[in-house]
Amino acid sequence: MTNNRAVAYTGNGGVTVKDIEFPELVLKDGPGVNPQNVGRHCDHGVILKVVSTNICGSDQHMVRGRTTAPEGLVLGHEITGEVIDTGRDVEFIKKGDLVSVPFNIACGRCVNCKEQKTHICLNVNPDRPGSAYGYVDMGGWVGGQAEYVMVPYADFQCLKFPDKDEAMDKMLDLTMLSDIFPTGFHGAYTGGVKIGSTVYIAGAGPVGLAAAHSAQLLGASVVIVGDLIEERLQQARSFGCETINISEHDDISEQIDQILGVPEVDVAVDCVGFEAHGHDHQEAPATVLNSIMKATKAGGGLGIPGLYVTEDPGASDEDARRGSLKLDFGLGWAKAQTFVTGQTPVMKYHRGLMMAILKEKAQIAKAVNATVISLEDAPRGYEEFDSGVAKKFVLDPHGLLKN
Ligand SMILES: NC(=O)c1ccc[n+]([C@@H]2O[C@H](COP(=O)([O-])OP(=O)(O)OC[C@H]3O[C@@H](n4cnc5c(N)ncnc54)[C@H](O)[C@@H]3O)[C@@H](O)[C@H]2O)c1
Ligand SMILES: [Zn+2]
Ligand SMILES: [Zn+2]
Repeated sequence: MTNNRAVAYTGNGGVTVKDIEFPELVLKDGPGVNPQNVGRHCDHGVILKVVSTNICGSDQHMVRGRTTAPEGLVLGHEITGEVIDTGRDVEFIKKGDLVSVPFNIACGRCVNCKEQKTHICLNVNPDRPGSAYGYVDMGGWVGGQAEYVMVPYADFQCLKFPDKDEAMDKMLDLTMLSDIFPTGFHGAYTGGVKIGSTVYIAGAGPVGLAAAHSAQLLGASVVIVGDLIEERLQQARSFGCETINISEHDDISEQIDQILGVPEVDVAVDCVGFEAHGHDHQEAPATVLNSIMKATKAGGGLGIPGLYVTEDPGASDEDARRGSLKLDFGLGWAKAQTFVTGQTPVMKYHRGLMMAILKEKAQIAKAVNATVISLEDAPRGYEEFDSGVAKKFVLDPHGLLKN
């Protein structure tokens, strides 16, 4: 049956919306599916009617050809939906439940999952620890930028919203629980933001804005956001952040000094990743990491949700092509800084952040300028997002959302 529509990578810098198979509780062969995952039964899974699914900067790395993602890969790891079918082994999640799906796929049974390290589950991706829907090298779980999607390990993974009507009213906020709100929060929290902290956030994309809002929720006294795109910096200022335009200033420490009276912050968060650009708009994959080591105090923390890769076919030099960057690591070592990297263990944070949304302590949709478009409009959404607009695009496959 091909009665499902989904966003797929076309292999040439674009995406298309096409017919795909209606999901079943088994992982079938397809673009990017690891052979060892083909035929994997998911009686612990559910089928979701997708209510909202967001476009992410992580998708853009693939669509820009900066990974080895295969043509035809069905994209989408930020998924919220209504359960329409449950597998034999699902005990507690029920048909009709409205749930947020963590973008990491995790079994709940391995040693890492038992330690809440669901971002490096050992049982879901034969290539390496950790997995995600619709992502290169992540085992081949079919993406959720679609009308329908299969979610394995449902009892463990799904976060059920307590009240469906209330959840539908707040869906533009709740849709951010599948990735960017926990991710921004993780960056700020693991960097060590606490009451009174001064914080620098590199990147004013949706993850950077989510980290900035999270730093405010954690009690930061000053949050400074840097980017090269003025429109995105304006968005950061709209909810009380200070900003640094990197294209006008090549030394963030000087700018931090102007704002704080000292050239270092307590905590910095890299929400840019390996496609970082320098002051001159040239690609410089280590620039954010090096500048935040310099601009963070001795003993300070660096949260690094920005994505770094082991293979970058589009890199400008041979080292960067295999993910090897020119880091001032001695500086970070000498300053005894702490680094936290990797995917976000979404399940550590999603319930608490859901409560903060439901009780109106957090305004994440406003911070990231959540913008609803139809599934069929996804190619335009990808293009606009890539041009640097200050919007977080939320796809609405069944026309259920209010803008
Ligand atoms: N760790 C995780 O689990 C996780 C989850 C989601 C996203 N991510 C990653 O987080 C990063 C950000 O995601 P996004 O959706 O906000 O992407 P995005 O591409 O929209 O935002 C990145 C921003 O960084 C800016 N930038 C480039 N060079 C810069 C520099 N030197 N200083 C400051 N800003 C600079 C860009 O102009 C852009 O606005 C991506 O690498 C994404 O893959 C990681
Ligand atoms: Zn994402
Ligand atoms: Zn596991």
